[in-house]
Amino acid sequence: MKVYSSRYKLVVDDKPAIGGGKPMFKDKLNIIRPTLFDPAEMMVEIKEIFSSGNVTVSKHVKLFEQECARYLGVKEAVAVSSATSGLMLAVKALGLTGEVIVPSFTFTATVHSLIWNGLTPVFVDCEEGTYNIDVKEIERKITPKTSAIMPVYIFGNPPRVRELAQIAEKHKLKLVFDSAQAFGAEYNAIRVGGFGDCEVFSLSPTKVLTAIEGGLITTNNIKLAEHLRRLRDYGKCGEDIGSMGLSARMSELHALVGLKNLGNIEKCLKTRRDLILLYRGLLWDIDGINFPDILPGNKSSGNYMVIFIDEQRFGVPRNKLCEALKAENIETKKYFYPAVLLFRYMGIWSRLL
Ligand SMILES: Cc1ncc(COP(=O)(O)O)c(C=O)c1O
Repeated sequence: MKVYSSRYKLVVDDKPAIGGGKPMFKDKLNIIRPTLFDPAEMMVEIKEIFSSGNVTVSKHVKLFEQECARYLGVKEAVAVSSATSGLMLAVKALGLTGEVIVPSFTFTATVHSLIWNGLTPVFVDCEEGTYNIDVKEIERKITPKTSAIMPVYIFGNPPRVRELAQIAEKHKLKLVFDSAQAFGAEYNAIRVGGFGDCEVFSLSPTKVLTAIEGGLITTNNIKLAEHLRRLRDYGKCGEDIGSMGLSARMSELHALVGLKNLGNIEKCLKTRRDLILLYRGLLWDIDGINFPDILPGNKSSGNYMVIFIDEQRFGVPRNKLCEALKAENIETKKYFYPAVLLFRYMGIWSRLL
């Protein structure tokens, strides 16, 4: 067997670890390792940041915003403390009210951003294949109270952006993309970031572009970006507080990490996409293992390597497979599990599918 990383020593035993054999990996094979580099590479800038005393929303944050906007081909990028705070602020800045349509298959933070703003999430199931929001089901869920649609790039895979924009326009709804997992993804050969009213990316440790923690709101609406910059700083408007903001700024240190990683983004995207191709190549002929479909013309960011298990055809329950891999010291995660609709806090909010 070819070994792709010298970091992990591979042990090959006839018996699987779950059946008493030696685990394949001595050290835990993490599902994702954050993209980091030698911190010595940042020392000059860190010293400069410390000696200047400008430690938040200063030179590096501005540069990071400009560079991200340039890379994504969008007019404005607003750096914030996380995608969750970015979504919360986007919802606030766009003045959303009442009900917002979201996919039921998503990470919990998509929905948090609505509930924190006192809005009601209305769930739409995902379509089989892409596992993105099922656009055919959306219009059925629109009511006079609906103010927006918040689609998600599930696992970094673009949803049906054109159809979503058409529905939003027809019903005069705002369109906010939860693009947390999608930095570097492409829809119809266009890098995502400029769709809808705005898109919100996560820069947390698992993401293709990480700033260790952080988020990014991208938009072609300059006024919206200005509003978001005030909102991330409590809502400050000169000496006054113009609107109810948050403390959601990005620090200079995080922006510095983001900038360094942005310089390597093409390599990071290629590595993840190549690894996914490698896994797919090795697993494609195993009955009962499926992969998310990526629609023609699109590219996923490759944020996650995902398989779907058809338990009947595969012959082993998903949970058993996870246990067997854990015994081999291989980490897996069940996404998005439990489903967001089943969380206890959802009880009072969700209108069932
Ligand atoms: C779809 C989705 N939305 C929102 C978030 C929240 O991102 P953050 O941790 O930056 O707040 C995540 C995090 O992984 C996510 O996957």
